[in-house]
Amino acid sequence: MKICCIGAGYVGGPTMAMIAHKCDDIQVTVVDINEKRIAAWNSDELPIFEPGLDDVVKHARGKNLFFTTEVDKGIREADIIFISVNTPTKTYGVGAGKAADLKYIELCARRIAEVAEDDKIVVEKSTLPVRTAESIRRILEGAGKSIKFQVLSNPEFLAEGTAVEDLEAPDRVLIGGEDSEAGDKAVQALVDVYAHWVPRERILTTNVWSSELSKLTANAFLAQRISSINAISELCEATGADVDQVAHAIGTDSRVGPKFLKSSVGFGGSCFQKDILNLVYLCEHFGLPEVAAYWEQVVHMNDHQKERFVKRIVRTLFNTVSGKKIAVLGFAFKKDTNDTRESPAIYVCRDLLREHAQVAIYDPKVNEESVLRDLEEVGTFEPDNGKRKHVSVYQDPYEAVKDAHAVVILTEWDEFRELDYQRIFDTMLKPAFIFDGRNILDLKELRKIGFEASGIGKP
Ligand code: NAD
Ligand code: UGA
Repeated sequence: MKICCIGAGYVGGPTMAMIAHKCDDIQVTVVDINEKRIAAWNSDELPIFEPGLDDVVKHARGKNLFFTTEVDKGIREADIIFISVNTPTKTYGVGAGKAADLKYIELCARRIAEVAEDDKIVVEKSTLPVRTAESIRRILEGAGKSIKFQVLSNPEFLAEGTAVEDLEAPDRVLIGGEDSEAGDKAVQALVDVYAHWVPRERILTTNVWSSELSKLTANAFLAQRISSINAISELCEATGADVDQVAHAIGTDSRVGPKFLKSSVGFGGSCFQKDILNLVYLCEHFGLPEVAAYWEQVVHMNDHQKERFVKRIVRTLFNTVSGKKIAVLGFAFKKDTNDTRESPAIYVCRDLLREHAQVAIYDPKVNEESVLRDLEEVGTFEPDNGKRKHVSVYQDPYEAVKDAHAVVILTEWDEFRELDYQRIFDTMLKPAFIFDGRNILDLKELRKIGFEASGIGKP
């Protein structure tokens, strides 16, 4: 059995490494057009940071796991081809700002159609609008070859930062296939791959459309929980309730459950917003405006949470941050990843810079190049305004906070809990403010030191 995966990103890389690690009898080749990324997958410095990933890759790489830019060869030799390329929000034309941009998916389908010489199972690993499998099938069959294609949906549910544990012991694996004999056979082939290590009862099989839609729905539900608790956090601030206490009180109800109720400066990451907007677009497309508006509110609430966080900083700092050094601790969208896509930190820093603050950033895993690129992409810098004038990126948190008016926590890195806050207080300007956008610090302890400390939804 040979597997090829097109797309060596945050999903393709770890997912295929796990399959190779668990299935000695399967040869897995991950192909990508990005030469730099492939070179990194073949080096000691993997292109993405994920706890435990190095060991999984090293165990299989060169034995039954290969990373290469030879896309056509990978496709030609494979029995099963995963498509795991990016599906960003469209930025142009019809559906701009909401619909998924499927150009990379279509390019893959066309490539497979062109170079395949025998029957293939094509698996949608990317997150896609419901009914994309139909388009893929038509493109594959459009080549007019006598070979047979089966298109399956097998969405990925891993979260960054815990990718290896999520892949090792998934809550479930979802496989959607065509309701036919050939479809059942293809589904079974993929079930057999996962059954190498995933208990059979955790491998769910559905029709293709249910599988595609389940992925968008799963992300929408998860993000909706965060927006719901964040909405309550604002009410907590107005009333003296504590959002963590409220979350605990509701989360102990087994029907609600305790997970994903951590109030924050807002959710980030490459997928929640993109996938909800995609869901909204689909609802609009199918003439369901009330359903679309319902889900869009999850994104509005998230934007509001980020905006009101910055407004609060400005208000608290005597209504101006102009010329003031604000130390930002954390730039990744969550801990244990170097990924900054849609990180709330980008928008918080942008808005602080628009208020003419001097922003000093420290993140243990995000480098200066990424920070500046992200800030540039959201239009932070005027063309004639040298970037370095207002943003500085530090390697040491204690340097970042020196002479700052305020410290702002934007990622829940464990190391931020362990910092010496007395030392930080001593080097800051007074009054020394701290805004914990992740509710990871003990505000009472900070206040004892002398900080003017605030969290999200905290009295
Ligand atoms: P990514 O941007 O990290 O990786 C995508 C890769 O595909 C890139 O390296 C790119 O060069 C490559 N690519 C694009 N077009 C190609 C082509 N025509 N031929 C060969 N390679 C090509 O993206 P990602 O985070 O891995 O996400 C991939 C998909 O998985 C998305 O649909 C996303 O919604 C979904 N997803 C992501 C996560 C996550 O945690 N990041 C989790 C679940 C699902
Ligand atoms: C999320 C889902 O959890 C995965 O199941 C899914 O596969 C993935 O999206 C995807 O499709 O890309 P991910 O974005 O990597 O995974 O990370 P999460 O742990 O879900 O966190 C997303 C954002 O929500 C982060 O910014 C995080 O800090 C924030 N968050 C999470 C909260 O603010 N509060 C919480 O209680 C949980």
